[in-house]
This record gives sequence, C-alpha cells and structure tokens, in this order.
Amino acid sequence: MDLHLASDTLWMRRALAEAVRGVGWTSPNPAVGAVIVREGRLIARGFHRRAGGPHAEIAALQMLKSPGDARGAELFITLEPCSSAGRTPPCTDTIIAAGFSRVVFGAFDPNPLHAGHAVLLLRSAGIQVATGVLEEECLLLNEGWNKWICTGSPLVIAKAAMSLDGYISSHPRRRWITSAASRRDAMGLRSTVDAILVGGETIRTDNPRLTLRRVPPRPQPWRVVWTQKSLPPDARIFTDRYHDRTLVFQKSSLREILHSLGARSIRSVLIEGGGYLLGEALDQHVIDKFCLYYAPLFLGGRVPAFGGLGISSLAQALRLTKVRYRCIGDDVRLEAYPQTTAIGGCSGRLNVSPIKIVPGTS
Ligand SMILES: NC(=O)c1ccc[n+]([C@@H]2O[C@H](COP(=O)([O-])OP(=O)(O)OC[C@H]3O[C@@H](n4cnc5c(N)ncnc54)[C@H](OP(=O)(O)O)[C@@H]3O)[C@@H](O)[C@H]2O)c1
Repeated sequence: MDLHLASDTLWMRRALAEAVRGVGWTSPNPAVGAVIVREGRLIARGFHRRAGGPHAEIAALQMLKSPGDARGAELFITLEPCSSAGRTPPCTDTIIAAGFSRVVFGAFDPNPLHAGHAVLLLRSAGIQVATGVLEEECLLLNEGWNKWICTGSPLVIAKAAMSLDGYISSHPRRRWITSAASRRDAMGLRSTVDAILVGGETIRTDNPRLTLRRVPPRPQPWRVVWTQKSLPPDARIFTDRYHDRTLVFQKSSLREILHSLGARSIRSVLIEGGGYLLGEALDQHVIDKFCLYYAPLFLGGRVPAFGGLGISSLAQALRLTKVRYRCIGDDVRLEAYPQTTAIGGCSGRLNVSPIKIVPGTS
C-alpha cells in the first residue's frame, strides 16, 4: 500500500471513531467525525453531536489551541463537507478560510444534488482533495440517512430472536429465547434507529416497552404499531413516559407506513416482529438489512420468525450477501443484506461519481 494511502487510512479510522460517538444522536442529520493533522500529528478532533449543532469539521476546528493552527494542516472527515447553507453556514467556506492544505474525506454526500460539489469548491481554492478513503465503512455508518436522502424512505432492518428451527414464540414460563448478552446487543441496535415497528399481536401478547435500557442515554425511538383492530389502551407504549412517541397505523399497507415515516424524516426503522409482520415485510421486499439472533434450542409452535406467503420456487428465494456471523455466548448473531440492497443504503448513482479522485492527488 502506498505510504500516503496508509496514513490516510489510519487518520480516517480516527475520524470514524469520532463519528461513532454521534451515532443515535444526530438524526435527522448523519453521524460525522473529523480529525485535523499537522506534520503527522493529530492536533484536533471533533464530531457532529446533534442536528443544529456544529458539523464535525467545525467542532474539530473549535478544538484547536489557536485558529491559525489549521493553516497548512490536513483535515480528515468521514463525509464530504457540506457546500450549501442549512441550519449552519456551508462548511466548505470555513475550510477554505481556515487555510487547510489538504482535505481527505471518506464518502461523498449521497444527495445527488450535492455530491462532488465540495471537491470542486475546495480544489478551485487550491486545496488538495482526496476521496474514497474507507468509503464503505464511512457509508455504512449512516446507511439509514443515505437511503432516506436517496429515496425518501427509511432503511428497514428486520430483527428477530429465534430458535434454531426458526420460531419466535416463547414458552409462557420462559420469557426470553436468547441470552442476556444477545438482548444487550439487540438493545444497542435499537439505540441506533429512529423507529421500532411491531405488529398488533405482539403488543397484545408481550406488552413490550420498546424503550432503550442498559445503553448510554439516547433519544427514544418512535414506537410504531401495525394493526387492523383496536389495541389495549393500558399497553405500556400508550401509558409510559414516552407515550407521545407512539404511532399507530390502522389498516395501512407496510409501504404506506414506510412512506409516512419517511415523510416525518424518520431515517431508519427496526422491525422487531412478530412473525406475521416480518413475513409480510419479506413478501413485500421492503427489508434492507437483517439482524437475527439464534439461540441453541428448538421451539416449534405456531409463530415462525418470518410468516408470509413465501415463494413458489427456489429461484425466487431472497439471497443475502455481506453475511457476518458472530457468537454471543451460545447464541449466534447473523447480520446480512439482501443482494438488492445498495451499499450503505445509497443508490447506484453514488458509486459512479464522475469526479472521484485518486487518494493523494489534488
Ligand atoms: N422472539 C422475537 O424476536 C419476537 C419479537 C416480537 C414478537 N414475538 C412473538 O410473536 C408473537 C406475535 O407475532 P404474530 O406473528 O402472531 O403477530 P404480529 O406480527 O406481532 O402482529 C400481526 C398483526 O399485524 C396486524 N395486521 C395484519 N394484517 C394487517 C393489515 N392488512 N393491515 C394492518 N394491520 C395488519 C394485525 O394486528 P391486529 O390484530 O391488532 O389487528 C395482526 O395481529 C408473540 O407470541 C410474540 O411473543 C417474538
């Protein structure tokens, strides 16, 4: 690997570590991280904390001992800097004024209207620009945001805790199918999304809270219920302190619900079951990502993790890619994407950006 690319990768990894600190907090904005490097030494770092607050590169600039320290330094940032005014002024103006000699970013802005603009602006100000460093990791950090920007619809993640034979309904005396460690992991997943969607029968059977527990405090995701009939008015989601974060969709199709959530700027939805709803989501091809937890037991019974109509020939099977397995104690966690899901939730347009520049060149 060329030396320039090796050090770019190293600094981008530091910028990614910064960005991760904002995950779950920044919606409707993306999580972004930045580091400022001078003569091979990190002199400032920052991340976007919440919508309306300073963007990552501005937060990093604010960490400098003296604003003049940016002159001639390098800026590493996980996402292409914004080049238009929103709630804050365009970051490209600030970067140019700060006097950076080189800017390296990981992912292009997924919005086709903005993608690549920062490159042109920075280069015409005489700043070296390199792009695409750890691009896939930078994209995956904001897959919900990317999908929403490209399509107006939220990223849909299907989650289930199931037995090895693919059933999810537990015995009344054994409440949880998977281990405490798997449930903690699933809680972490919950804390990264804007909304959690469940079926009406799950509300009646389990009376779930659908809140964030045993994770660092984060804004409570919306709790969304798909139902046809009436739901118990004393269910926890209607009576707890987050009752105003509950939405009920009666007699809407799944696509209508997702459209409506997208219109509310909800970027990511975690479908947490039950089996009828997950089966419907599978049949309707609305799932972008799977996070499934398998416990080493057999349940059988009446509720498969994915009900639905299924397929009539193997050729129609939903094939998964980027499959990752992880053992959590005796359980196994599978994370995977349908082959049709675009990388990082972006439309194909992004991956054929006409102005991609080889790292290390201006
Ligand atoms: N292990 C896990 O990860 C996990 C997670 C969640 C749930 N569960 C288990 O799953 C079981 C419940 O699953 P389930 O498959 O029976 O039901 P479900 O998927 O939770 O809910 C299905 C519900 O969707 C609603 N629905 C169906 N068609 C509709 C339409 N056309 N328009 C609007 N709404 C519609 C109906 O709600 P209404 O009846 O209200 O009209 C129906 O009851 C429980 O035993 C629960 O413990 C397990």
